[in-house]
Amino acid sequence: MKKTLIVGNWKMHLNTHQASLLAHRLHQHVAAHHDVEVVIAPSNLSLQPLSVELDRRKFRLAAQDAYPKDEGAFTGEVSFAMLRDLVHYAIVGHSARRIYFNESLELIRDKVESAVRNDISPILCIGETKQDRDNGETKQVIHDQLTTALSNITSDDITKVVIAYEPVWAISTFDGEKAKPDDMQRAIDYIRFQIKELYGERAALAVRVLYGGSVTDHDAGAYLRLKGCNGVLVGAASLNFHQFAGIVESAHRLQHERGVA
Ligand code: 13P
Repeated sequence: MKKTLIVGNWKMHLNTHQASLLAHRLHQHVAAHHDVEVVIAPSNLSLQPLSVELDRRKFRLAAQDAYPKDEGAFTGEVSFAMLRDLVHYAIVGHSARRIYFNESLELIRDKVESAVRNDISPILCIGETKQDRDNGETKQVIHDQLTTALSNITSDDITKVVIAYEPVWAISTFDGEKAKPDDMQRAIDYIRFQIKELYGERAALAVRVLYGGSVTDHDAGAYLRLKGCNGVLVGAASLNFHQFAGIVESAHRLQHERGVA
């Protein structure tokens, strides 16, 4: 059985001191389970200290983004090549990058390729906006984002890529609109169908697909129960160690139920 993947995206929160404090709390409250992989994505600034402070048997690290060229005159950027010894994963194509930093499909394609070339598993975020959804274009958006991002990835490498389905309208909407499990199931099935079209049946079954968008310790189980959902990408709730530990426990409970069923 695949491990469930729980990723905490801390986004642009916490200075290094605060990040170390939260990491310390997570150590105390998040249990290690053989069937759950827990990944933390702090700011780039905290990756180095956390790589020393975190127990690597319990937590892995992810970058939130990186630049596709390995080195050069790209002031302000950090490359996947620079991060390769620090992180197992890197979030790529998050909707915040697409929307606020105008990242194009082609730039995201180059980032996915660079991550894989540097032995980092990209967590490729895809998902439609509210407007796309209202226009009935969800499938088209998923198709275009997925096929372009993966266009330089060979069938040998596709299982290194994790796909995170994060509908933009469901991100940070804790009191508002929540993604319905039926919508999620349709999207996950469609993502696997696209992987099958591109890489065949085995790859479609092997690739890990996550859900992200206002996941809390109360509803993580409902998303994790979806067929073909291998984990969750958590934003705000990952900054609260009680909630994040609760999400990890939900994942473990569900794995246990499946194991004994
Ligand atoms: P929230 O869980 O805060 O909605 O964030 C989701 C997300 O964007 C994770 O990458």
